[in-house]
Amino acid sequence: MKFFIDTANLDQIKEAQDMGILDGVTTNPSLMAKEGIKGEEKVKQHYIDICNIVDGDVSAEVIATDYEGIIKEGEALAALHEQIVVKVPMIKEGVKAIKYFSSKGIRTNCTLIFSAGQALLAAKAGATYISPFLGRLDDISTDGLNLIDEIRTIFDNYLFETEILAASIRHPMHIIECAKIGADVMTGPLSAITALLNHPLTDIGLEKFLADHAKNE
Ligand code: E4P
Repeated sequence: MKFFIDTANLDQIKEAQDMGILDGVTTNPSLMAKEGIKGEEKVKQHYIDICNIVDGDVSAEVIATDYEGIIKEGEALAALHEQIVVKVPMIKEGVKAIKYFSSKGIRTNCTLIFSAGQALLAAKAGATYISPFLGRLDDISTDGLNLIDEIRTIFDNYLFETEILAASIRHPMHIIECAKIGADVMTGPLSAITALLNHPLTDIGLEKFLADHAKNE
């Protein structure tokens, strides 16, 4: 399973990259705003800065919601760097744009997926990735993992090459469960990724090994 980090924070991206386990980055307009990145040129430069840190795909989201606008913005984003994947919302105009991008060899990530039907449409249009938001489904008492499972079955039934990018990950168990289901990629905060490191028996065991080693010094 590929590990993407879901942030526009350069320090966190560097930290995950330094661990040697990072495969890519996802961003969205809220995450860019959180870092105070405003204005077209600054946003573009920030995407380039992210691409220069990580070895892998970087999702950059369009703001336009009309077909022509999505195409114009998406082409400009894709031209910024070869690692850029154009993130397009799951709306009718978005699906049409994904079809166009796919015919031009521009890679896409269809975002805001909340149902298997939406995932199927995006895959048929040729999306490179689809992003089901499992945490946000859990937030409204709906089983987000069940959606990942449904999409896995459908994509396997028809051998769709579109990758399932499990998004809106909130904690380490989401990552483990997505790996068991067979999500191709997960994207989440640095805290969910580093939480995978922790086990109290590891800490106790290491402390004992070091103490025993010290006795022999
Ligand atoms: C996906 O690409 C989104 O940026 C993200 O995972 C949304 O997560 P949230 O529900 O924690 O905002």
